[in-house]
Amino acid sequence: MPVIYNKPIIEAMTKPITILAIESSCDETAVAVLTFQADQTMILSDLVSSQVKTHAKYGGVIPEVAARMHIKQIIPIVDTAMTEAAVNSDLIDAIAVTGGPGLIPSLLVGVETAKSLSFVWQKPLIKVNHIEGHVFSSLINEKLSRLPELFPALCLVVSGGHTDLILVKNFGDYERVGGTRDDAVGEAYDKVAKMMALGYPGGPIISKLASEVNLSQFELPRPMIDSKDFDMSFSGIKTSVLYTLKKYSAVTDQMKREISFEFEQAVSDVLVSKTLKAAKQFRVKTILLGGGVAANKTLREKLQSHAAALLPDVSVKIPEIKYTGDNAVMIGFPAYFHFLAKNFAEIKGFRPDPNWELT
Ligand SMILES: Nc1ncnc2c1ncn2[C@@H]1O[C@H](COP(=O)(O)OP(=O)(O)OP(=O)(O)O)[C@@H](O)[C@H]1O
Ligand SMILES: [Mg+2]
Repeated sequence: MPVIYNKPIIEAMTKPITILAIESSCDETAVAVLTFQADQTMILSDLVSSQVKTHAKYGGVIPEVAARMHIKQIIPIVDTAMTEAAVNSDLIDAIAVTGGPGLIPSLLVGVETAKSLSFVWQKPLIKVNHIEGHVFSSLINEKLSRLPELFPALCLVVSGGHTDLILVKNFGDYERVGGTRDDAVGEAYDKVAKMMALGYPGGPIISKLASEVNLSQFELPRPMIDSKDFDMSFSGIKTSVLYTLKKYSAVTDQMKREISFEFEQAVSDVLVSKTLKAAKQFRVKTILLGGGVAANKTLREKLQSHAAALLPDVSVKIPEIKYTGDNAVMIGFPAYFHFLAKNFAEIKGFRPDPNWELT
């Protein structure tokens, strides 16, 4: 999937380009309208309808339920996004949609909607990898023509399904240089929260409890922190939490706070250490952070402060909180570069791929 993109191409783009973007890979139905003009990305509308309350009852996402809810929501949300953006179909230059990875029943709803709109409105269709969206989510406010100066960059993607270190050489040119060998960080957060009966999704709850203390009587391991590669492992930390909990017949709220604190410290120590090690090794100019766990305050602060101390020449880009979880703006943003490279999808052969690998 090579995308030809460079500064002169962007500078030559005087005509504004407007993209309607759709994201439905998991449990958020999201639609956005973006205009790329005068070297900037303007967000004309940005809607996210989360199903989290529904899935919280089951302690996780039920794919069949998610798809039914997407079906109900998608057309009204497209309609509202167009109205809020004050655009009609004539003003849309392309339709972008998440083509994977994700849950197939959920992906199908977004993809079939995008295909129908593309056919009826006679507009090109752009297939975006969900992880490519997370990778660039911290760059949405940057001047478009300055983006090539940030490469090579290293992105730490931390989400519900992924924990990857991705070397970004240019748009469309990526290499996974490390990441988890087992659980994704978000998944570990959710499982640890479940062990302590805290609710779903676990990340924000653990993070809140952790913020209520600044010390912990518990000690958890930092697996693989000293290994020479850029790989990580989070299932061991999770199992250590389980063994810690088993030692007590009753777990108090204070113990839950302290376990949350230590868990968050352990996880962020590993993530930050591996990211900095890889950034140094690959001599990147920029470190990017993306994915749902990028909302975590401890991780954001630790990555910024440690990078500033150890790699002062490397700039760190952290996404706005609203672009950390799933959203359609992060799908529309890389779609612009696919548009410039005329990297369009055929309606007929386009099937979502639940396991679509970015690299
Ligand atoms: N403040 C936070 N601290 C830690 N984790 C968080 C925080 N907020 C959200 N999360 C975690 O982020 C994850 C959701 O992220 P995201 O929506 O990007 O995942 P996904 O889209 O399901 O997976 P993927 O992007 O890999 O397909 C959940 O596991 C959630 O617990
Ligand atoms: Mg995601």
